[in-house]
Amino acid sequence: MIDRNILDKAFALVKAKWPDAKPRMGLILGSGWSEVVESFRVVDAIPYEEIPGLGKTGVVGHAGRLVRAESSGLETLIFQGRRHFYEGVGWTPIALPVFLLKSFGVKAVMVTNAAGGVRADLVTGKLMIIDDHINFLGANPLVGAHDPFWGPRFPDQSEVYDAGLRRLLAQAGTAAGEQLPHGVYLADSGPTYESPAEIRAFRTLGADAVGMSTVPEALLAKAAGLRVVGLSCITNSAAGISANPLSHEEVTEATKQAMQRMKQVVLNFWKEVSREGI
Ligand code: HPA
Repeated sequence: MIDRNILDKAFALVKAKWPDAKPRMGLILGSGWSEVVESFRVVDAIPYEEIPGLGKTGVVGHAGRLVRAESSGLETLIFQGRRHFYEGVGWTPIALPVFLLKSFGVKAVMVTNAAGGVRADLVTGKLMIIDDHINFLGANPLVGAHDPFWGPRFPDQSEVYDAGLRRLLAQAGTAAGEQLPHGVYLADSGPTYESPAEIRAFRTLGADAVGMSTVPEALLAKAAGLRVVGLSCITNSAAGISANPLSHEEVTEATKQAMQRMKQVVLNFWKEVSREGI
């Protein structure tokens, strides 16, 4: 269950450090995405250890800082590194970024991740716009007593990933010289990678890419009334499609290779949002 008390403490701490912050946008950076912070002008940063309930990320490729930044005139809070369900630390550290963003009055959040490609065209290096997701975690962060902060008891999820923002993300890709594929992201709990039989099953269920994150933050942000947009970096072909065993090294290496394009697409997306207004 999400511990609201800890979330309130975290917000109080960040608010006290940055009393004049008026962010419009949020960005949650997943595995291998940390360097995308270079698409922004950094104003200040707070290490996760200093924020109640957030703690160390403990995963290689996750920096663990909350960064106050700006791009295209849009003040942005960037979570450089995320917490995962498989860490077994409960929902509070996972919900915390979304709670802070909503509490600061942010309008929209981009969630990013590294994912395995399930659909044949989603090969290593592709950047995929998340159109929808499948929650295969076997759990939901909103289980527990109802807190109206997260919207109604039974939040609508018929359009988690905002259609208007998906269009702007596609335009950001075009401006970077690539046509970004769209797809459905399935999250399982991890920390094991999938078996080939699971990947075949997930393909049948409608998954195009698979990973161990993003879905909790996206569903919470949507429930709390934020506009959500999601971008996956395909870092490997999923189990059984890939000839090799999967490893985290392969994942981080693939994001390194794709980094310039990841930065450019994010930079362009902020330009598009600034032009369109949020
Ligand atoms: N499966 C699950 N999570 C992942 C993968 C994968 O193939 N690649 C990167 N994160």
